[in-house]
Amino acid sequence: MTLRLGDTVPNFTQASSEGEIDFYTWAGDSWVILFSHPADYTPVCTTELGEVARLKSQFDKRNVKPIALSVDSVESHKGWIGDINETQKTTVNYPILADPDKKVSDLYDMIHPNASNTLTVRSVFIIDSDKKLRLTLTYPASTGRNFDELLRVIDSLQLTDNHSVATPVNWKDGGDCVIVPSLKDPEVLKEKFPKGYTEVKPYLRMTPQPNK
Ligand code: BEZ
Repeated sequence: MTLRLGDTVPNFTQASSEGEIDFYTWAGDSWVILFSHPADYTPVCTTELGEVARLKSQFDKRNVKPIALSVDSVESHKGWIGDINETQKTTVNYPILADPDKKVSDLYDMIHPNASNTLTVRSVFIIDSDKKLRLTLTYPASTGRNFDELLRVIDSLQLTDNHSVATPVNWKDGGDCVIVPSLKDPEVLKEKFPKGYTEVKPYLRMTPQPNK
């Protein structure tokens, strides 16, 4: 199934390192970062899953629940979690879905046959609290992901959902934003952006981050 931005993501029930998970129930009112990795007991994946555990408080702050997935079994995940904790000096504090029957991998199109017929690629899905897909990302097996970048995107999505701004190149939380081009009424602009704005071009107007 091809999932596109704005789609409602499909529900599933699947085993995990923390017991059986009904995805919608488990997600509740939170956002979710669902990410697949090619296999347990592999070096790059070990560093990635350790980093997500270290960043858990950052995800919590944003009301985001992490959940990982590979086509390995629950037993394999449980053994590997011991290695992640030991080598990455952390404690894995989120579930890893066990998908040996490829139910979830197929549902979310995480197996790309021309990369590997059997293993999931490094997919990322950021899903909002309405179960809408907000970001997809696909990395090759050989390249570990940058989870700081994913936090940055979540910051941008949560900001731009609530204010009439978008975030420019290389924006980070606290940086100047652009005012959405559709907003033109000077009275509305004054009301929405009391800190003011700079008009570089009629379509390029910069304003301090509204919620700071
Ligand atoms: C890794 O996580 O280290 C990895 C997994 C599959 C292929 C290459 C590297």
